[in-house]
Amino acid sequence: MYTLIKQEGRARRGTFTTPHGTIQMPAFMNVGTAAAIKGGVSSLDLKELRCQVELCNTYHLHLRPGDDVVRALGGLHGFMNWEGPILTDSGGFQVFSLSSLRKIREEGVEFRSHLDGKRIFMGPEESMKIQSNLGSTIAMAFDECIENPAEYDYTKRSTERTARWLRRCRQELDRLNALEGTLNPRQMLFGINQGSTYDDLRIEHMKVIREIPCEGYAIGGLAVGESAGEMYHVIEQVEPFMPKDRPRYLMGVGTPANILESVRRGVDLFDCVMPSRNARHGHVFTWEGIRNLNNEKYKLDPLPLDESCQCPCCRGFSRAYLRHLLRAGEMLGMRLLVMHNLYFYNSLLEQIRRALDEGRYEEYCRRWLPVLSTRI
Ligand code: GUN
Ligand code: ZN
Repeated sequence: MYTLIKQEGRARRGTFTTPHGTIQMPAFMNVGTAAAIKGGVSSLDLKELRCQVELCNTYHLHLRPGDDVVRALGGLHGFMNWEGPILTDSGGFQVFSLSSLRKIREEGVEFRSHLDGKRIFMGPEESMKIQSNLGSTIAMAFDECIENPAEYDYTKRSTERTARWLRRCRQELDRLNALEGTLNPRQMLFGINQGSTYDDLRIEHMKVIREIPCEGYAIGGLAVGESAGEMYHVIEQVEPFMPKDRPRYLMGVGTPANILESVRRGVDLFDCVMPSRNARHGHVFTWEGIRNLNNEKYKLDPLPLDESCQCPCCRGFSRAYLRHLLRAGEMLGMRLLVMHNLYFYNSLLEQIRRALDEGRYEEYCRRWLPVLSTRI
């Protein structure tokens, strides 16, 4: 259940109560694609990193180790040793971005696994079955995510199909939730808005899917080739048509600046591989700007990544040491940098919530937007 606590302009401060705990919103989900955060960060670390929600992927876990295996071990919560909320993406994005030889039809998508080339079919029912086996807190609807720019006619046909798929997802998840022995009988479903960068298609699609009762609604098909300006425009167009009493999730976004700008436009929930992926390349977010630790200037630098940061990495290690670890290819280097970046994102969202609580979000944006995208 979503409770709106406070609003400043379109920005929302709220809570979302789930069977696995209450999420303070706006929130950032830490991405553990194959039931692990890349870079060697465990569920135990996530607590220390102030993570509220973890995200895993249907597509990856279905291919390996198999959702039947995860189910046999108590679902994702038992498997990963994470008690908090977990959201699973439906496969609707990964099938399109990772697999080959896709054939899409009304029933679903036939594709070849990116691991071994095996032929697999996934449609709304298959995706719900897999997510039910994974026992996640929130299941995402099976959708088609189209890259931008996209043809108008194709986008129209695709969004109509994605709406029909959502109806099938709702029906199938209701059925699975009612079955004897279901891992999480209160598994929630979020619908996903599509429509590329076409205002009319986006709005029409949103009006159709909001009539299908879901516990939350996402905006998908963004950060896939369009400019940041176009992305903000889509959010502004769609947001007025999103239910006020449900969380709004912007999928796969984004930079700290993208998050500030999207919260401003009414978004409550985010996920992105950026903090963990960038960390693995030596790029770290700090309250002074973005640092590239590969830079020679850090060779003898005894300071922590960020002098104001309280994360496990900054409490103990110097820039010089971290740079050395990275260059030497030591796993510890990646692990520490990923921990710092996740802590940074989770702290950023905490600060956003505090600013909203105190009615100074616009001021917060003015102060931090210029800093957060500066390279130092
Ligand atoms: N992750 C990022 N964008 C999308 C999207 O449009 N759909 C799904 N299912 N996942 C996403
Ligand atoms: Zn830190």
